[in-house]
Amino acid sequence: MSKVDLGVNIAGLKLKNPVMTASGTFGFGEEYGEFYDLERLGAVVVKGLTLKPRVGNPPPRTVETPAGMLNSVGLQNPGVDYFLEKELPRLLEKEICVIANISGANVDEYCTIMERLEPSGVAAVELNLSCPNVKEGGIAFGLNPNSVYDVTRRVKECGDKPVIVKLSPNVTDIVEIARAAKEGGGDAVSLINTLLAMEIDIWSRKPVLGNVYGGLSGPAVKPVALRMVHQVAGALDIPVIGIGGILDWQDAVQFLLAGAKAVAIGTANFVNPLAPIEIIEGIEEYARQQGFLAVEDMVGALQQ
Ligand code: SIN
Repeated sequence: MSKVDLGVNIAGLKLKNPVMTASGTFGFGEEYGEFYDLERLGAVVVKGLTLKPRVGNPPPRTVETPAGMLNSVGLQNPGVDYFLEKELPRLLEKEICVIANISGANVDEYCTIMERLEPSGVAAVELNLSCPNVKEGGIAFGLNPNSVYDVTRRVKECGDKPVIVKLSPNVTDIVEIARAAKEGGGDAVSLINTLLAMEIDIWSRKPVLGNVYGGLSGPAVKPVALRMVHQVAGALDIPVIGIGGILDWQDAVQFLLAGAKAVAIGTANFVNPLAPIEIIEGIEEYARQQGFLAVEDMVGALQQ
């Protein structure tokens, strides 16, 4: 049986396959490591890090919706220093490509976190400009091309690691935002983060989430994500990481055909912890059946 080359090159990172985990759905990998060897993944994107530890938003912080879920976690995390001291060394005991997702309350904070990560074994940084659940930081930067450009440019000046800019779908023109990330020096973009949404409990007549609004993820958002990935990959010469409701290998293949060089698996991890592994295997089998010698040949191979 012919062997398919699963490797992809993103922003100078040589990934062994195109499947990574989406930030916020995988913690720091410890729990999932009980299900499979994390070395099998293309990359692990860890829970979003801030400069100081955060307790996150008031509960309830998640609710299931038809074909998806809302979260308003609010960037709960132990802070970048704890990550560097306690979590990263454990991940790096193995051959795992670790990508740190970071959020700042202001541009200086993004830069400080980047500087702390610079001497570490983190392979790349994903700039979260798209968290819909905190007032400061995250989405406050991601909706405006000028601020996307500014924060990306400043962070790039603070280190040499590849920078992936994670984009929000809560915008009118995703290509304009992706272009700003590229012009700011971003090495790749990842999209989409969650769609701003809400649920109401009609008996209490209150919002279900403690934070009122949350981010919608899961299969419900996949067609939106696919459309945005297709638009960005078609318009800009920058590697795209596709995220949004990928449940199985068929979904992942759709993103690759639409132009994503890699995919990140998020909500599916909650439903099926083995989803990323099944997706890697499914992509390989599909490529073999379709006569692709390398996964990179599938990228953007959509017939129009
Ligand atoms: C959260 O922690 O609120 C989710 C992170 C994100 O959507 O970027």
